[in-house]
Amino acid sequence: MSYLVLARKWRPQAFNDMTGQEHVVKTLGNAIAKERVAHAFLFCGPRGVGKTTAARLLARALNCEKGPTAEPCGKCSPCTEIAAGTSVDVAEIDGASNNSVEDVRQIRERVTYLPQRDRHKIYIIDEVHMLSTAAFNALLKTLEEPPPHVKFIFATTEPHKLPDTILSRCQRHNFRRIPAARMIERLREIADAESAKLSDRSLALIVRQSEGGMRDALSLLDMILSACGQDASDEAVAEALGAVDRTAVQEICEALLKRDARPVLARIEDLHVRGADFKRLAEELALWLRHLLVARTVGEAPEELADSEKKAVLAAAKDADPAHLTRLFDLIHGSIWDVSRAAQPRLAFEVALLKCVHLAPSTSVFELLARVESLSKRLDLPPGAGSALAAEGGRPPQRPFRA
Ligand SMILES: Nc1ncnc2c1ncn2[C@@H]1O[C@H](COP(=O)(O)OP(=O)(O)O)[C@@H](O)[C@H]1O
Ligand SMILES: [Mg+2]
Ligand SMILES: [Zn+2]
Repeated sequence: MSYLVLARKWRPQAFNDMTGQEHVVKTLGNAIAKERVAHAFLFCGPRGVGKTTAARLLARALNCEKGPTAEPCGKCSPCTEIAAGTSVDVAEIDGASNNSVEDVRQIRERVTYLPQRDRHKIYIIDEVHMLSTAAFNALLKTLEEPPPHVKFIFATTEPHKLPDTILSRCQRHNFRRIPAARMIERLREIADAESAKLSDRSLALIVRQSEGGMRDALSLLDMILSACGQDASDEAVAEALGAVDRTAVQEICEALLKRDARPVLARIEDLHVRGADFKRLAEELALWLRHLLVARTVGEAPEELADSEKKAVLAAAKDADPAHLTRLFDLIHGSIWDVSRAAQPRLAFEVALLKCVHLAPSTSVFELLARVESLSKRLDLPPGAGSALAAEGGRPPQRPFRA
């Protein structure tokens, strides 16, 4: 059998398999159970989060021989043909290349005929925002009152480009980016089934690069398995992804918190030899500092991290001073832009790191207040003058007027 990419091999075959879109799946399931199925749907959301998959599942749910049902059998001819994209009564149309009035006219003529075999004639139009204005206008009438056997399912990444007249005639469902923790679970399931041994850390790295899109995550997984084999080490995965190894980021961060320049410089030299991208490194470091700051502030590691990363964040944040973290973040985050434009990115980044090492120890406002208070006592100022002094931004308080 020819090789099937993971994204296709692992396309969800049931509504319950869809990760992170429970809100959509539930509403669709209820509508089918209660026989209150709209005649036109609009699936909106970023790419690779399950819009086409859900459209095909909905088509199956409506046309399954055992249906209409929220749990199509997956075995009858309508079910298998829809999955393969060969059903005569379900048309999948690419809106980008069939965007003219003429294309819509053809649809308009065909909807008047009854389905050839199944319950419904279903039109799935992908990237529907690509239709021309004239094409949208030609579609309006049909969309308003389609024959009872016809259903439309539109999918788009750019709903704001659709005319209001179309929007108001569709039942809209918003697909969201898949939460990192859910995505890791799904990738773990797939990696296990493919006998790939990848650490949580590697999976988390894939998830971070795919920004909530499952298709991108699966393509990256494919790429890693072919580049590094089934037994990829964290370093190999990071390298294949062109990403920065988290261990390096964590070590640099730890050294910065201790104001210890030596390990920082050693790490940079090492990364330089390995051909690291310093802008990426600066971004990763800023992100890590953000995680530490969140953990230090709310007492919990950010939800989107893998379990192993949560532990590392909590351990590193435990004794860190929030004010120090904030200033490190400012410096590193501010350096991203400089590093990305520098003729010598390594130098720009190194100097930013050294600035971090030289940051003066920070003092909390409370400590400052206490010091001002004790000073004012020694100077024999009236009680409370210390806080007034601090509140006025350091200007000396007015002496009380004495006649
Ligand atoms: N919510 C999801 N749950 C599980 N897998 C998903 C999900 N969304 C996307 N995928 C995976 O990504 C592939 C592409 O998804 P697709 O539905 O075509 O995305 P879209 O149409 O939103 O761009 C699917 O074949 C599947 O492997
Ligand atoms: Mg799609
Ligand atoms: Zn079926």
